[in-house]
Amino acid sequence: MKIKLLLLLVVLSFWCCKEKQISKQGVIAKNAMVVTARKEASAIGRDILQQGGNAFDAMFATEMALAVIYPYAGNLGGGGFMVYRLHTGETGALDYREKAPLAATKNMYLDSLGNVIPEKSTVGAYAVGIPGTIAGIFAAHEKFGTLPIKTLLKPVIELAENGFTITQKQHERFIKYDSIITAVNEKQVLINKNVPLNSTFKNIALASTLRRISQNGRDEFYKGETSKILLKFLNQRDGIITAEDLELYQAKWRDPIQFSYDNLKIISMSPPSSGGICLAQIMTMIEPFNVGQYKHNSVKAMQIMIEAEKRAYADRSYYLGDSDFVNVPTEDLLDSNYLKSQMANFSFESATSSDSISFGKIPNYTMEISEVLPYQESEETTHYSIVDQFGNAVSVTTTLNGAYGSKLFVDDLGFFLNNEMDDFSSKPGVPNVYGLLGGEANAIAPQKRMLSAMTPTIVEKNNELYMVVGTPGGSTIITSVLQTILNVHEFDMSMQEAVDAPRFHHQWLPEEIRIEPNRFKENTLARLEDKNYTINDNRTPIIGKVDAILVLKDGRLEGGADYRGDDAAVGF
Ligand code: GLY
Repeated sequence: MKIKLLLLLVVLSFWCCKEKQISKQGVIAKNAMVVTARKEASAIGRDILQQGGNAFDAMFATEMALAVIYPYAGNLGGGGFMVYRLHTGETGALDYREKAPLAATKNMYLDSLGNVIPEKSTVGAYAVGIPGTIAGIFAAHEKFGTLPIKTLLKPVIELAENGFTITQKQHERFIKYDSIITAVNEKQVLINKNVPLNSTFKNIALASTLRRISQNGRDEFYKGETSKILLKFLNQRDGIITAEDLELYQAKWRDPIQFSYDNLKIISMSPPSSGGICLAQIMTMIEPFNVGQYKHNSVKAMQIMIEAEKRAYADRSYYLGDSDFVNVPTEDLLDSNYLKSQMANFSFESATSSDSISFGKIPNYTMEISEVLPYQESEETTHYSIVDQFGNAVSVTTTLNGAYGSKLFVDDLGFFLNNEMDDFSSKPGVPNVYGLLGGEANAIAPQKRMLSAMTPTIVEKNNELYMVVGTPGGSTIITSVLQTILNVHEFDMSMQEAVDAPRFHHQWLPEEIRIEPNRFKENTLARLEDKNYTINDNRTPIIGKVDAILVLKDGRLEGGADYRGDDAAVGF
């Protein structure tokens, strides 16, 4: 009897393993899906859709809900990017990135000897770029929204007024950043270490700000009472943003970066984000290697991706900046022959040293050559993905840059201000907080937008909507989006598995593979080290927090919400 049972088990296990096992699937929904950093924000987006709103209505409400419940990165005082695909197949992108104030100058963060003054671009009023978020969500709503603003903001105002529960992760963040927030504001503010775990947290000042915006519209933020409170606050702290800066701010519709990879079409963010161009470069360099023939996170698969990443980040450092101000040679950078030649010296035998990699030579490109040093960007951004019941999709990444931005909290308005000015290269060649190097293309100029790595992305497969994806993570955003797409397309994972899978990152300089600790096989790491790769598992315990949606074969939607945060997918 026992032998029979054993045989049956063996036969069963063979039978099971013939088909790929979906070990873990995310939330499945028939009609629509919202995936964000908090379940309450996802639920507000879902409720707007259930009231008959579309993805752009849900974007408005979700973005503001995140500003209430996730002040770490959700914001009114920051900016972002949105990539969309309508059910008709039309695609586009919206840039609501912050801008440098009119009074900004190229060397504003340097001392008389030309050295970067520590913290001047990272904390306090001088680090703040002109916020773009309110302009962004109103621009999206004006073009595509269907429900009244008052309807969209009602549940958000209620969330701020009635409060929400402080989670373990949020509690830990409040404690971690308490001393710096208190120091910068010269007093304890609403967000502080004494807010108890599991308590109900309310933000009445933010509720009032949102109520005024609900009544008076976009201009409330840029010209109304809110702007006056904001300017007074900044002026008292040596900020340089003026009423003219706020009045001049406009979000901008842009053509997204679009490229193909196998039978996929990838639609991603164009400059001033580096995301789309870098992702396109990496995927185009990878494509000829048929990475799916190797095992997921095997030595060879990792090598192909890492070597392509190094070359793309080298180009990023030199060529990329705000295309309204500098000539970004997009076509040349995405040329498949150029990218093939960039990979020509790659060998599986050993790592190509970062020293021997430089930005590629683009004929007739003139830009003052300055030393190009490594790149850094803050990791505390947030991403959300939405697919509505009509088949429209939006992919949105929004940020204050650092955790709680500049740490400046405007008490009377109830929100933090960004420190996005740090994403410029203060001094070309000197890394920013993400360790990323910037070149002249990303030098500071009045009204210019600082370079970003945010990579809100939509993927089509055989001309149909297939995936909506994005993540926070500063410089690691691009490589996290890359891995998530490849995990599904090349390594047959479900959306949730693709989001949860261990991630690694290389950004050319510093010359190291950053990995999530304890999630890679020792043997794989040892073999990479034998090939002269340096492994760093110390830099960050997690890489990215991907929130994504996959359209399944039967048309249902799978939400992948990253286990690394409090993220949640909510659908119907
Ligand atoms: N500050 C993060 C980014 O723009 O990529």
